[in-house]
Amino acid sequence: MFFALLLQVGAIHSLYSQERTITNLTSGWKFHRGEDEKAYQSDFNDSKWESVSVPHDWAIYGPFDKEVDKQVVKIEQNMEEKATEKTGRTGALPFTGVGWYRTTFKYAGQSDKQLLLTFDGAMSNAKVYLNGELVGTRAYGYSYFYFDITNKVKKEGENVLAVRLENHPFSSRWYPGAGLYRKVQLIEKSKTSFKHWGHYITTPLVEEKVARVNIKSKVQGNDLRIETEIMDANNKVVASHEEATQFDDEFVQNISVSNPHLWSPEDPYLYQAKLKLYEGDELKDVQTIKFGIRSIEYTRDRGFVLNGTPTKFRGVCLHHDLGPLGVAINKAALKRQLTILKDLGCNAIRSAHNMPSLEQLELCDEMGFLFVAESFDEWKKPKVENGYNLYFDEWAEKDVVNLVQATKNHPSIVMWSAGNEVPDQWGNEGVKRAKWLQELFHREDPTRPVTVGMDQVKAVMESGFGALLDIPGLNYRVHLYEEAYDKFPQGFILGSETASTVSSRGVYKFPVEKGVMKQYEDLQSSSYDLEYCSWSNLPEDDFVLQDDKPWVIGEFVWTGFDYLGEPTPYDEFWPSRSSYFGMVDLAGIPKDRYYLYRSRWNTEDETLHILPHWNWKGREGEVTPVFVYTNYNTAELFVNGKSQGKVTKNDSTKQDRYRLRWMDVKYEPGTLKVVAYDDNGKAVAEKEIHTAGAPHHIELKADRTVLDASGNDISFVTATIVDEKGNPCPTADNRLNFKVSGEGAFRAVCNGDATSLEVFHKPTMKAFNGKLVILVQSGEKAGAAKLTVSGKGLKKATTTLEIK
Ligand code: GAL
Repeated sequence: MFFALLLQVGAIHSLYSQERTITNLTSGWKFHRGEDEKAYQSDFNDSKWESVSVPHDWAIYGPFDKEVDKQVVKIEQNMEEKATEKTGRTGALPFTGVGWYRTTFKYAGQSDKQLLLTFDGAMSNAKVYLNGELVGTRAYGYSYFYFDITNKVKKEGENVLAVRLENHPFSSRWYPGAGLYRKVQLIEKSKTSFKHWGHYITTPLVEEKVARVNIKSKVQGNDLRIETEIMDANNKVVASHEEATQFDDEFVQNISVSNPHLWSPEDPYLYQAKLKLYEGDELKDVQTIKFGIRSIEYTRDRGFVLNGTPTKFRGVCLHHDLGPLGVAINKAALKRQLTILKDLGCNAIRSAHNMPSLEQLELCDEMGFLFVAESFDEWKKPKVENGYNLYFDEWAEKDVVNLVQATKNHPSIVMWSAGNEVPDQWGNEGVKRAKWLQELFHREDPTRPVTVGMDQVKAVMESGFGALLDIPGLNYRVHLYEEAYDKFPQGFILGSETASTVSSRGVYKFPVEKGVMKQYEDLQSSSYDLEYCSWSNLPEDDFVLQDDKPWVIGEFVWTGFDYLGEPTPYDEFWPSRSSYFGMVDLAGIPKDRYYLYRSRWNTEDETLHILPHWNWKGREGEVTPVFVYTNYNTAELFVNGKSQGKVTKNDSTKQDRYRLRWMDVKYEPGTLKVVAYDDNGKAVAEKEIHTAGAPHHIELKADRTVLDASGNDISFVTATIVDEKGNPCPTADNRLNFKVSGEGAFRAVCNGDATSLEVFHKPTMKAFNGKLVILVQSGEKAGAAKLTVSGKGLKKATTTLEIK
């Protein structure tokens, strides 16, 4: 098998070098859905099982099924008073039940070597067997964990690794996914070596002329010494140090770096520490760790201070699924998400409501995002019957320790979150749990503060729960910010979760008015961005707090992207199966709301966005309001050249402070044009949209046209149905078909429609409001991959990607 060879080559290679050998267990897995009690045994015959590669999500291939994890529940945090049937709450994809994975590898390690088996996460209730023996278990699907298998691995013949996973019904409030959805690795190193997750790099002193880099390293072995080199982003050594004093199992080094280049979201500069461990003159281990030099403080007067500069969180909450890929981690998909969020002007991410993937953290370090790494959606008190409450007593400490140990060197992480809206906000036991968890985080990492996203704001003001946290995080409850600020001692408030406004891309409802839990027959929500939930609010309710209250240190909007499951306000309506909360839809296409946030968050680029679309056959002469989301304060609107007047942002309502609105426009087909003015009254920008004719052809736009021949790079190609002149057809729902030839393959497709029951992995799908996104995956050979998109009555389109 491919990786078995690699490991053997690695093992041979390591006779000459003491570098670690890290092998990704990617290909060559066998998978089986369902129980098989003998599957842990070495000689079990898995030849009939499906061949898969890991990361793998067994549930994303569907089919969507109303009965999967159908929950008859009263969602207390949504203020529901009686239990009702909720279909699609966890995505209606078949994630429940048992799944088995098996693979084999050869290992020829020397007796002075140690072999670790690591999992970045396994969904869930993992039982790991090697050669028929149980190696260990892990309950929580989001936890990173590893086992030392040195004494269990065979040096002759094949080693058989088997993993049993089981997801219970009623165990989640969103789509959790299923399977070995993050990477699995074998790490071979010397027995005398750095411990796993053994380095802890902090920068306790950061000044213009000098920074102190403190490196604590845990080792296995005695009488050792470390040689360290600090390298800048060009791999130039900027400082070095040798340390021979070993305190028990730890080395502590303080290394000064002159004229440090600081890490920030705007300038995510990374250094590397190359650490070499010697026993006498013999090199035993080498590790290179990326880190950033940055200082963080949270102060009463200045809020969150990054490198001396007060900084507000312009953040989004993200669930871990990647839309049509499910939860199977893919770096290209994560990078695309972050690229879209960069353009939004977003500077921060909260991993709702669990440990993020390590790939996401690496990208946030590199691309510049602040990160709130969260652990749990439940503590001891349940939200769902089989949720984390079942594991809290046994696993909470271990899970928090691993979260911090595995991720603490990421400069992007600036805060830990111990929980989200935990029902333990009620009662004294919960106060004790909050204190216990916060102290655990502090014990593992004294440099970062801890928050909890709180929705029971009255209760936590009374009980002391909110007062004891480093960072009081409020979820929604905008009307209680002032009171919480007065009552809590910290001197600031974080909007740990905000808005939960709902909309469907390209859908507009009339009359245009505010609505709470508004429902329509087509199970869509209006993109006039005026609809929200009984517990939530509109974007501007947060904007005024963010702008007018200096003690509000930022917000994390629910959510950046749509996600599978939680189809509020249609939880009780089939076939809704994914969220409406995103600023960006499930396919990764921005909704209008994206531009509302962009107009205030992206301070470098112009935003001038018109809504709705202008294809309203049958509404001729009817009032069809027009909104413009822009960073300019004033604009004038024209319908077929006729001015509809100038509008300037104003304080008459919260909406009018941030949106330009023409409420009385009467629809007539043609051209809608907006001209923006600067504050001196000079016309500085304009934009127009047109009524489209009949669908005529397809336009393709790839987010990236050159892919790595890695076998798992992905280009996201947006297909837009346009009329003869190239105007987007905003209501087209033509069925499109996809073919990929050459050195790539069709991977998946998504149209962003929360009610679509078409599976993502078949090469055909209907467009939703004129668009969809096709995922083309690279092969392992250099060359070209050609995507052809066709549809009945439409001229075909092709695009060619370079694979290298
Ligand atoms: C919050 C919760 C999130 C999500 C959101 C939807 O209360 O923390 O997980 O459910 O509501 O509005």
